[in-house]
Amino acid sequence: MTSALPPRAAGKRALITGAAGGLGAASARMLARHGARVFLTDIERDAVAAVAAEINQEHGAQVAWSAAQDVSDEVMWQRTLAEATKAMDGLSVLVNNAGIGSLGGIERIELKEWHRVMSVNVDSIMLGCKYAMPYLRDAQPASIVNISSLAAFKIDPDYTAYNTSKAAVAALTKSVAMDCTRQKIDVRCNSIHPAFIRTGIVKPFFDKLGEEEATRKLTRGIPMHRLGEPDDVAYAVLYLACDESRYVTAAELVIDGGARAV
Ligand SMILES: NC(=O)c1ccc[n+]([C@@H]2O[C@H](COP(=O)([O-])OP(=O)(O)OC[C@H]3O[C@@H](n4cnc5c(N)ncnc54)[C@H](O)[C@@H]3O)[C@@H](O)[C@H]2O)c1
Repeated sequence: MTSALPPRAAGKRALITGAAGGLGAASARMLARHGARVFLTDIERDAVAAVAAEINQEHGAQVAWSAAQDVSDEVMWQRTLAEATKAMDGLSVLVNNAGIGSLGGIERIELKEWHRVMSVNVDSIMLGCKYAMPYLRDAQPASIVNISSLAAFKIDPDYTAYNTSKAAVAALTKSVAMDCTRQKIDVRCNSIHPAFIRTGIVKPFFDKLGEEEATRKLTRGIPMHRLGEPDDVAYAVLYLACDESRYVTAAELVIDGGARAV
């Protein structure tokens, strides 16, 4: 006789940033499909509301909520976390996913652009972890998942600010993880490092170069010879968010078709 297993993320209450599309929307859908309640945020208010509505349509009302949030805004973080916690009756997972790309070698990058990238890709995660921690402490076992990039380890010199921001996310993740272990609280913190995944962030390549040339360029260093799909990352988010990964903290989970090995 087989007994049905409970959904993998049953009882989890997750806030996911940058969830209007791409990896954030895929992660929110994945968590909801596996039994979590999800609160989606993005600067794109209507688009993120549409993703939340789709999730509710599929899984029933009171599974997904959404709000407009600029992740680089400190006050908005405090407001959004209070709202999310009220809606979901707590918070046990934070997925810091929102991020932006930026092109420019060291002599081309402007200080203003550098600050913009750092503020959306790094300050945001510091603020999210800082202000979510009291809620996560109340909801142990809890988990923070930070979306970094393979760019934290493998450098394309045309992406100075982006590479640096994503390397900072890896160090920030481990700092938060160790702070939690030091406090003996069951709040884990891990980073995910995808290679190229087909989302809005790589769309400019396809628009500029066309399907064939963009695919050739983006898969050049990928032993598996293809781009990743959003669900390749969403499955990793699911694993790190739920209690299956209860002994995993301060880890760097690379999802890259083998690229880091070569
Ligand atoms: N797709 C890839 O190839 C790839 C590879 C490695 C890492 N990543 C990382 O994955 C994360 C998600 O990116 P994606 O690929 O889904 O790209 P995407 O552009 O499709 O999604 C990013 C989302 O973040 C939102 N956003 C941008 N600035 C924001 C802000 N200030 N506040 C709140 N939301 C904001 C955008 O509106 C968008 O919905 C990013 O951190 C990105 O750096 C992506």
